[in-house]
Amino acid sequence: MTMGLSMTQKEIEVLIPRERIDARIEELAREIDRDFKDGELVVVGVLKGSFVFMADLVRRIRRPLACDFVRVASYDHDKSTGVVRMEFDMTQPVAGKDVLLVEDIVDSGRTLRHLLAHLRTKDPASLKVASLLYKEMKTDSRNLVDYLGFEVPDRYVIGFGLDSMGLYRSLPYVGTFKE
Ligand code: IMP
Ligand code: MG
Repeated sequence: MTMGLSMTQKEIEVLIPRERIDARIEELAREIDRDFKDGELVVVGVLKGSFVFMADLVRRIRRPLACDFVRVASYDHDKSTGVVRMEFDMTQPVAGKDVLLVEDIVDSGRTLRHLLAHLRTKDPASLKVASLLYKEMKTDSRNLVDYLGFEVPDRYVIGFGLDSMGLYRSLPYVGTFKE
């Protein structure tokens, strides 16, 4: 299959090794434990890209929490289509609860803004955002992220949940294709 072949042929450069990601996730979990002392916490992952980061993050948070997921479609063949479409919604009411939205990466911020507006209609007590990555750009979406793992250069990144046409999500590090 051509896809398998291209996967072995494309050279990947490691941007953030696993050890640095692990250490950073531990720091974020400690911050989250400090910030959410009381109340009910619902951690909401944005599928599919956030599943690896979210799995590691929730296992390091010590306070009780519930997990839920949403799915939106915004990217098509590694390019933003500019259209954010809700594919499925979370399955539990979050009114009066603290919601922590978990993203893999914030690029233009379009997906995140759409999701925040959507989640606000559910009347959570608070709404915070954790994102593994933030792409350095000339946008002002950095202030939308409360718990940030790393800033990455404005290049297409893969691994640790992030895909390129469905592949590479299982890489245990964040990388980019060599040019
Ligand atoms: P935004 O709406 O432009 O902020 O794009 C956010 C979404 O696009 C993320 O949730 C990712 O799923 C996807 N995305 C953006 N940049 C990348 C990238 O470099 N690699 C993989 N996915 C990306
Ligand atoms: Mg995504």
